[in-house]
Amino acid sequence: MRISANYLAIGLAAGLLMTATACSTLESTMGKATPSLYDRLGQKPAITAVVDEFVGNVAKDNRINGRFATTDIPRLKGHLVDQVCMATGGPCTYKGRDMVTMHKGMGITNADFNALVEDLVAALDTFKVPQAEQKELLGLLGPMKPDIVELP
Ligand code: HEM
Repeated sequence: MRISANYLAIGLAAGLLMTATACSTLESTMGKATPSLYDRLGQKPAITAVVDEFVGNVAKDNRINGRFATTDIPRLKGHLVDQVCMATGGPCTYKGRDMVTMHKGMGITNADFNALVEDLVAALDTFKVPQAEQKELLGLLGPMKPDIVELP
């Protein structure tokens, strides 16, 4: 009876120790967790500033600005901010059209797409967004390319 009580005590102590270790491991993992890309970019005010600059760059870019001749620019900016905010893990909901529906029939080329990406990178550089975050953002937008580009 006495022996089994001892075993029970040892078992309980070991169990508690394991739980404590698991908790502290979880705690340190959580403590080191990388913030979302949304947070690292500087949240909505920073994303809005980058989108403003980006759309400004597109407006000056003779390679592609003709395509936006009849576009409601403030509306486009709003959609882009929501899209980037949501894609990077922020508390926004993109309410615009899906990328295929939006760009269908525009005959967007690879060169158009690359020009737009260049204009975005220039905006990110203007705000000194670090390379790692730039790469991560482009990594989220890159997969949209087949939905947008229709011509080689
Ligand atoms: C990853 C790349 C791209 C993203 C994330 C993107 C995203 C968007 C979004 C969110 C909208 C607004 C959707 C809505 O109003 O419902 C939009 C509209 C538009 N996009 Fe893109 N786009 C991309 C590439 C391009 C490219 C390469 C072009 C052409 C150079 C282009 C031309 C347009 C035009 C002309 C409109 C506005 C159409 C209108 O007047 O309403 N997009 N895009």
